[in-house]
This record gives sequence, C-alpha cells and structure tokens, in this order.
Amino acid sequence: MDFLTTTGISKQQLHSLLQLAKNLKEEHKCGKPNNSLAGKTLALLFEKPSTRTLASFQLGMAQLGGSATLLSSSNSQLSRGEPMKDTGAILGRYADIIAARLYSHADLEELAQASSSPVINALTDLDHPCQALAALLTMKEHNKLFAGSKFVFAGDCGFNVANALMAATSLAGMEITLACPRECKINEEYLSFARSRSTVEVSHDLFAAAKDADVIYTDTWVSMGQEEEKEKRMQMFLPFQVNSQVMKEAKKGAIFMHDLPAYRGKEVTAGVIDGPQSTIYDEAENRLHVQKALMLHLLGKA
Ligand code: CP
Ligand code: NVA
Repeated sequence: MDFLTTTGISKQQLHSLLQLAKNLKEEHKCGKPNNSLAGKTLALLFEKPSTRTLASFQLGMAQLGGSATLLSSSNSQLSRGEPMKDTGAILGRYADIIAARLYSHADLEELAQASSSPVINALTDLDHPCQALAALLTMKEHNKLFAGSKFVFAGDCGFNVANALMAATSLAGMEITLACPRECKINEEYLSFARSRSTVEVSHDLFAAAKDADVIYTDTWVSMGQEEEKEKRMQMFLPFQVNSQVMKEAKKGAIFMHDLPAYRGKEVTAGVIDGPQSTIYDEAENRLHVQKALMLHLLGKA
C-alpha cells in the first residue's frame, strides 16, 4: 500500500488519519513515549530541497522508535542517472518504508512500482498529500473543517499544493474557490475529482473570491523547478497577493494558511503572514503528527 496522491485517499481514511494524528499530537505533548515502530526503518529519497518534510519525517520516525536514512540527488547515484526502478527495488529491500520527494510524478510511480515497501509522496510536481493532511488537521483545530466552509486558494492554482488542497478540501465537503490568473492552467483531473465531491468555482478576481471565506490559502508563485520562469510568474500572479485588504473581505474569524517556505512581499504580505489570522506554524508543526500517523497506518501499526 502506497500513499502517492491526495485523490487516492477515501473520506473515511482521511478522517481516521486525522483522528490518529490528533491523538499522537496529544500523546507527544504529554511526553508519553511511543515505540510502535521500534526496529523499523525509513529511507528518505530527496531530489529537491526541504526543511519541514525532511525534519518531520526523520524526527517523527525517531519519536516512534525507528530510524531513518537520507539519500539526496547529490549524494546518491541518482545524480549519475541510476534508474528509479533499480533505486526503488533496492531501497524497498533495505527499508520498511520510503518517503520520496521527486520532480516527476511518473518517477515516483516507477519507484513505488519497483519497491516492495510502501512509498509515501513527500512532494512531486503533481501533488503534496502530506501537506494536505497537515492543512486539514490545522483547519480542524481552528474549527474550519466542516461541510460548506469556504476555502479559497489564491495564486498558483496549477501546481502540487493547489492540487493536493483541492482534493483534500473537497473530500471534507468544503466549498472551494480557486482565484488565479486566466493563464494559470488548473489540473483537469484534480478539478474534476474535487467537482465530483464538492463545489469548485474559478475566479480571476481575488477580492471577489475572498468574500466570506473561512480559509484563505496561498503558495509560492515560483515552485522548485520553475526558477527560469521567475520573472514571468511574478508578473502574472501579482494581482493575487494575499494582503490585509484581501483578508478584510473574508469572514471575521477567517484564517490565513501557507505551506511554506513563503516569500513575504510576494504571494503574501508580512502583515498577513505574521499577523493574528496566520496559522503557518500550526500547519508546519502538524506535518510531524500527520506523517507519524501515516507511517503507523502504512506499516499496519494503527
Ligand atoms: N511545506 C514543505 O513541504 O516544506 P519543505 O519544502 O521545507 O519540506
Ligand atoms: N509549490 C511549492 C511547495 C513547496 C513546499 C514547490 O513545489 O516548490
């Protein structure tokens, strides 16, 4: 059993993972030891940089009594073109579970196909399902996760985080509005997944979209791998910056969310991201708890 896409989770699985993550978080806060994964090993295969995902997987595994090893593209044979198929077959024989952050989603599928151990998507260009789980746990904690709650994704609605959030919030029955430039290409598969489970509106006017929002979410305008298009993208997304005027359109108790890393003054102003409505550190913290829940689930310990 792998965890490759947010569209691959059922509503029931989603809620049970969130419940388990909540319990693990409480347990961790009380300092209660949990050695459910003693003797288990995690291989982390990272082609792209990471702060949160890497640290939370490594430390989460340690907190559950297991251990982890990191292979990056620079310190592994991936840099010399070793096929994903061979890498997956071998890591699957060494480790009980693999978490991989790759550019191409097709590469992740090839890795998972070859691995005898479960593979977790730690971000590809297509999806970021661990982020979606952490975002939903954060919304739940802030009482925003309910059917009919209005979720607005501002900015780059055509990449991994938007795809993941579209799928996850639709599973939770939230009403989705995607606010993006006309040129932004929304992933058709994720859009139809979300539309088959909830309502999705597409707007090219962030102020109108933000009206009565419960949650306003944004992501960087220049994702890893898009550096060459930086200037073009900065211009294109400029009208979609989340600032205090945008937040004023939302409901009074609305929250601001971002997966991080964030670029203050670009997709969000410092006033909003560092202000009272921001939940960025809660979401980043929740990466730890949801990924512990996921590893326990995939290893049959929950
Ligand atoms: N949000 C997220 O995945 O952060 P990192 O790139 O630091 O892992
Ligand atoms: N969309 C961003 C997410 C970073 C966690 C990227 O892919 O770079």
